[in-house]
Amino acid sequence: METRATRTAIVALSVLLIFPGALASVYSVGGSSIGQLEVNWVVPNGTINYSNWASNFTIHVGDSLYFKYNPNYHNVVKVNSTMYALCDSSHYLQVWDTGDTTVFIQEPGMHYFICGAPTHCQKAQAFSILALPAVGPPPPPPGSNPGFISPPASAATDVHVLRGILTLSLAVLFATCL
Ligand SMILES: *[C@@H]1O[C@H](CO)[C@@H](O)[C@H](O)[C@H]1NC(C)=O
Ligand SMILES: *[C@@H]1O[C@H](CO)[C@@H](O)[C@H](O)[C@H]1NC(C)=O
Ligand SMILES: *[C@@H]1O[C@H](CO)[C@@H](O)[C@H](O)[C@H]1NC(C)=O
Ligand SMILES: *[C@@H]1O[C@H](CO)[C@@H](O)[C@H](O)[C@H]1NC(C)=O
Repeated sequence: METRATRTAIVALSVLLIFPGALASVYSVGGSSIGQLEVNWVVPNGTINYSNWASNFTIHVGDSLYFKYNPNYHNVVKVNSTMYALCDSSHYLQVWDTGDTTVFIQEPGMHYFICGAPTHCQKAQAFSILALPAVGPPPPPPGSNPGFISPPASAATDVHVLRGILTLSLAVLFATCL
């Protein structure tokens, strides 16, 4: 069972775990996560300025935003630039309201998020964030035009999958060594 290839794979995966930046950007906001920017989604009370906050991060296609909020009071509404400027959530692109929302960034460019609860956007529970094209893996699928931007299948997802595989691999390795 324990082939050279298995060992090589374990080493390669270990490198990815130790240097996750090889696969996706790492952001840490109120906790550490990989390829994911955590947003504590509340009405700003003077201590948070979402515009300033968002401008401190560079995200890429394949990264995700994780919104944590109380769904009794807030939701997450993705809008276009016009509706963002107007704080108008009625013409939305997408709405999430579970309290626990992961938004995968699938296209480069500016992304606009507001809270749809009355007055919350006006009270600056809103931000825009620039996403750059995907970096590094995932490689284009075989046969695809290499000039294309990577598909939405995300680096962040790959990292989670790889971490799962690595955890398993390490367990096997330990079991083998014992
Ligand atoms: C503002 O909100 C933050 C985060 O929710 C909280 O820690 C802080 O105590 C609040 N400050 C005021 C002045 O309400
Ligand atoms: C956030 O900061 C920017 C730049 O300093 C400022 O223009 C904006 O008015 C601030 N927003 C809020 C809600 O304080
Ligand atoms: C983000 O950058 C702004 C300047 O644009 C700075 O004022 C602020 O303290 C930084 N950090 C956060 C968490 O907003
Ligand atoms: C945003 O959406 C509204 C309503 O669908 C539309 O009228 C407007 O032109 C859009 N703005 C942009 C910049 O696409």
